[in-house]
Amino acid sequence: MTHSLTGKIALITGAAGAIGMATARLLAERGAIIAATDIEGADFGPLRSAIPDAGRLLVLEADVTDESGFAAVVATAVEKFSTIDIFFNNAGIEGPVAPIPDFPTDGFRKVMEVNVTGIFLGLKLVIPVMAKAGRGSIINASSVAGLTGSPGLCAYVASKHAVLGLTRAAAVEWGAKGIRVNCINPGPIESRMMASIEEGASPGAAAAVHDGFAATIPMKRYGTPTEVAGLVAFLASDDAGYINGGAYTVDGGMTAA
Ligand SMILES: NC(=O)c1ccc[n+]([C@@H]2O[C@H](COP(=O)([O-])OP(=O)(O)OC[C@H]3O[C@@H](n4cnc5c(N)ncnc54)[C@H](O)[C@@H]3O)[C@@H](O)[C@H]2O)c1
Repeated sequence: MTHSLTGKIALITGAAGAIGMATARLLAERGAIIAATDIEGADFGPLRSAIPDAGRLLVLEADVTDESGFAAVVATAVEKFSTIDIFFNNAGIEGPVAPIPDFPTDGFRKVMEVNVTGIFLGLKLVIPVMAKAGRGSIINASSVAGLTGSPGLCAYVASKHAVLGLTRAAAVEWGAKGIRVNCINPGPIESRMMASIEEGASPGAAAAVHDGFAATIPMKRYGTPTEVAGLVAFLASDDAGYINGGAYTVDGGMTAA
């Protein structure tokens, strides 16, 4: 099987969302057992339908900004499955869309709290588990907004650049212990998040914004959550055994243009 993940234990945050769920499904198809977490009240129904074997899916609720709640998720996953081999540190929010002078400060703080502190807490809590086992692959969700600027999205852009920084910091700190840490940098993906950004950029004209964005991408379309999942599955696999500290675009050529 391509990039087999047979028997590996994968923890995924933001697992009820578009990319998290597509990744949970693909990792499960390739043989992984999934510990899935998302915020309290998230709709896990589609995820449970995608992975109907209850023995291969553990669903846990936690806010990634709440250290004790997030720690309880990690502890429960380890108690049940004994370790975590793969960690997709994926939960994130887009936040407000506004030029910097108009950008709400509380909105800025919230984006940094979820997208930066949440990713930091994930690293803080999962690295000791992987260090004990002497192996592991962590994939942090950055974005093309972690590599380039984007008007109206200062908090999101700053937060995703910070994810790249955290990825590099963790990779150099933990590579010697067998833990690989990489980040993925998706371009626009067909999803609720992009629909929200399009609407924020031009209220009432989201479809035109969508088509305008797509036209700037060399492949002339958005990606799909499953196309992002394919990159995560590769980075999670033993085929990526020497890949550490990298940032990998999955953007139809957007950042090459
Ligand atoms: N959709 C895109 O075009 C795109 C592009 C590049 C990067 N990304 C990144 O990929 C990741 C997943 O995006 P998506 O499109 O699946 O978005 P999504 O909104 O569908 O999923 C994100 C999930 O994170 C969860 N979440 C939000 N705040 C949380 C918190 N405090 N604690 C726990 N869970 C929380 C949400 O409930 C949601 O289920 C995000 O980090 C996003 O920034 C998305």
